[in-house]
Amino acid sequence: MQSLTILAPAKVNLILKVLGKRRDGYHELRTLFHRISLCDRLVLKKLDRSKFHLTVKGAKLGPVRENLIHRAFKLLRKIKSFQGGLEVTLEKRIPHTAGLGGGSSDAAHFLLGVNRLFKLKLGRKKLLQLGTQLGSDVPFFLYDVNQAIGRGRGEKIKVFLSKNKFWFTLVVPPFKLSTASVYQAFSRRALTRISRDATITSAFSGRLDNDLFQVSCALRSELKQLDLLFDELGVSRRLMSGSGPTMFSIHKSKREAERIARQLRHRKPKARVIICHTE
Ligand code: C5P
Repeated sequence: MQSLTILAPAKVNLILKVLGKRRDGYHELRTLFHRISLCDRLVLKKLDRSKFHLTVKGAKLGPVRENLIHRAFKLLRKIKSFQGGLEVTLEKRIPHTAGLGGGSSDAAHFLLGVNRLFKLKLGRKKLLQLGTQLGSDVPFFLYDVNQAIGRGRGEKIKVFLSKNKFWFTLVVPPFKLSTASVYQAFSRRALTRISRDATITSAFSGRLDNDLFQVSCALRSELKQLDLLFDELGVSRRLMSGSGPTMFSIHKSKREAERIARQLRHRKPKARVIICHTE
């Protein structure tokens, strides 16, 4: 096998509870990751020489050396059995820095892809160890499941399959929110909440909730307006994904998701509105 094409799906967080700030600076989370059909496409080609080349289509990302795929490649390089070269084409469809885990999924699927292409025989444990070094959301994408609970930084995964197929209408505002700045703002504002504890069962009682939402609204007031718009449209099941700024509504049918999408596109012409479903 000389090349491999892989789809890297996005996620939404159906629940995100922040339990406290840890000594390592990260926040202790309980979250419910849900895989969605919106995906990036990765093409991996073996090179004769041990070089690395990344081409990104469909989005302007930062310098290649900062890309998580490149960082994943550098981690793999430290493994003795892997000295191969790669030409990687990444077709971006998942909006980046949007709370949808696109960069994390690309990195996870790159690790899975290289493992297959070069027959490295890395087990789940080793892949998870590499993934955790790349980012808190990466381990979820190393599991081929539609839903899982994330604990710790979000990297400790417990599979929690979704029997339901949901339809989602995503609204991606025309601005970015950096994950680090949202967590920083959360720490500054919510010190009293930090000692609060929640068990997995109470955190996953089925209520949609995102503890970072208020903080993200304080950073960008447009999010509060978007929330009010969902209210006006009669959509009660809506939430922000991760640290935002993407917001989404949940529907039982494609028709309903499309109906809401039409109204959102009309009212928020600068936002990107995307319909997708449980993967
Ligand atoms: O793990 P990742 O690199 O995706 O995290 C980006 C930033 O978000 C971290 O540097 C940290 O500031 C913040 N973060 C956090 N607690 C988490 C996850 C992320 O404080 N559980």
